[in-house]
Amino acid sequence: MINLFYVSISGNTRSFVKRLVAYAEKVHAADATQPLIHAVEYTEELDSDIMAHPFFAMVPTYLDGGDGINSGYKEVMTVDFRDELAAGDPANLLGIIGSGNRNFNAQFGLTAKHYARRFNSPVIGLFELRGNDEEADRIYTAMCKYQADFEVRGVKRALVH
Ligand SMILES: Cc1cc2nc3c(=O)[nH]c(=O)nc-3n(C[C@H](O)[C@H](O)[C@H](O)COP(=O)(O)O)c2cc1C
Repeated sequence: MINLFYVSISGNTRSFVKRLVAYAEKVHAADATQPLIHAVEYTEELDSDIMAHPFFAMVPTYLDGGDGINSGYKEVMTVDFRDELAAGDPANLLGIIGSGNRNFNAQFGLTAKHYARRFNSPVIGLFELRGNDEEADRIYTAMCKYQADFEVRGVKRALVH
């Protein structure tokens, strides 16, 4: 089982998570050795111990404008989720999946990259808006790889620059 902890403000990430969970079910049905995904959405009333075990985090990008290089670094909307992650054990955070909108150019998916530095975890994938089947396949495959690696080594991979 793969644990996925995510936040979604306007529903795009939630929609992609549904696609990802369904994709994992399909793969698992054909090959029971392939893991299912247990997804938990962050809410203010969150009552879950998902961070007590190895998990992946998924976060869209909400920055306060700018170009992401000289300005526009300030994270908005997802700050409570970040604080929740900060309260957990970063050793359990196996990887981060980011999302955003490519119209933001250099700022595309930047919050995931910020979290990668903050929590010393690799960004294992990015997808755009509600995502598609190709992105679901790519991200599921990456999650399986990092989870299997963790199960062998017993230690997460750190961020590689
Ligand atoms: C105010 C605002 C700022 C945003 N800033 C960025 C950004 O800097 N980079 C990016 O890639 N996407 C940015 N986005 C796009 C969102 O990340 C994108 O719509 C995402 O799919 C939202 O996910 P959600 O519907 O799960 O909340 C921004 C969207 C809004 C409304």
